[in-house]
Amino acid sequence: MNFKRPRGTADILPDDQPYWGKVYDTARKVAHQFGYRRIDTPTFEDTNLFERGVGNETDIVQKEMYSFEDHGGDMITLRPEGTASVCRAYIENGLHNQPQPVRLYYAAAMYRYERPQAGRVRQFHQFGVEAIGDPSPEVDAEVIELGWKYIADLGIKNVTLRINSLGDAEGRADYINDLDKYFLGVVDQLPKVDQDRLKRAPLRVLDSKARETQAIANAAPKSVDYITGEAKEHWEALLVLLDNLKQAYPDFSYTVDHRLVRGLDYYNRTVFEFEPAESGSQGTLIAGGRYDPLMGILGGQETPGIGFAGGLERLILELKKQELPVNSTKGPDVVVVTLGDARAAGAALASGLRATEVSTVLAPKRSMKAQMRYANQQNASNVVILGDREVENGVASVKSLGEGGGQSEVALDAASIAEHVRSNGNQ
Ligand code: HAM
Repeated sequence: MNFKRPRGTADILPDDQPYWGKVYDTARKVAHQFGYRRIDTPTFEDTNLFERGVGNETDIVQKEMYSFEDHGGDMITLRPEGTASVCRAYIENGLHNQPQPVRLYYAAAMYRYERPQAGRVRQFHQFGVEAIGDPSPEVDAEVIELGWKYIADLGIKNVTLRINSLGDAEGRADYINDLDKYFLGVVDQLPKVDQDRLKRAPLRVLDSKARETQAIANAAPKSVDYITGEAKEHWEALLVLLDNLKQAYPDFSYTVDHRLVRGLDYYNRTVFEFEPAESGSQGTLIAGGRYDPLMGILGGQETPGIGFAGGLERLILELKKQELPVNSTKGPDVVVVTLGDARAAGAALASGLRATEVSTVLAPKRSMKAQMRYANQQNASNVVILGDREVENGVASVKSLGEGGGQSEVALDAASIAEHVRSNGNQ
């Protein structure tokens, strides 16, 4: 029987790990620069959390969740996203008792049953941040800046940032009403998928992929024209803050896109997406927004929040597309090559070297030539060659594989060889 990995999943092999190291390391570094602290939540949660949090009418809940009944009869779902889990954890662990806002980040696998294609898989990974407990526009600007800096620090170029405001619940009803009326007036010109979407979620017609709908959506009523009161002040203040970001980041730019709505129900006010300049929405690298209603929906005290999540698979595709450098994986400091009966002595030497923090691998029992080839393939810095004669004389041959690598005879004990390898600068 031949086992295959499930569709839409990937094996991340050692050769690909430098890319993963880069997206994780940069995420950690940037999150810490902005004062965000790591949180980890369970891979699975009560199904209800996502039905309520993400929204029953969303594609995620309707079609994409991995849900099952466990042996105790509870309905469980593999998390399709991180925000609902983080808010659940905030409520459950009383994080409202800490100084607000609480700034959190995570990097973890998420699960959605989607049709796999480039940049869209069923098990994917997100770097996400959530700033909870502060309603002010400065926090919106901070989260957007964090996303911008993450992409910039990865070295990714030509990314566009689009933002919009969905306003608050009050203005929204009027807006959706008018939007509905507008689309109903041209319903015959909409493709079937969008006619269906219009019945369920008129907002989602705005970000339709269908070309004929897009032309119609461009002329649709704009949510920013409907926002009033505090939501309007918030939006206007945010635009000023974003303009000010250009002082620190001369390349920073954004466009207001009134067709930007998000596929999750918890958003209000600010929403935003970062995507490569030449790609459809499949390529959205980072997406997020404000979700002030969410805590209340989940049964907590009303608490404002804003955050984003970036798809690590998509960021890595972009790193590769733009041919950006990653650190190559360093091989072991030493590969021990043994001949004749010296293999046991070689194994003991390898242990001794590892005990003194020199990374060491014992070459497989093969010909000298094959062992040397193995050392090269492992990208080793040095080989230590041990034969019967070396063991008898208490000396080993240490050969540097680095540039201009020389060969020396060194006393056959771990401390001397470790010292030699270190002073060679080849550790
Ligand atoms: P989302 O737009 O559903 O938002 O996902 C955020 C990002 O995750 C996407 O822009 C994309 O890069 C990546 N992503 C989503 N689905 C897939 C997939 N099937 N394959 C590969 N990558 C994918 C959220 O998840 C919200 N929780 C973001 C947020 C945090 N809003 C506020 N805080």
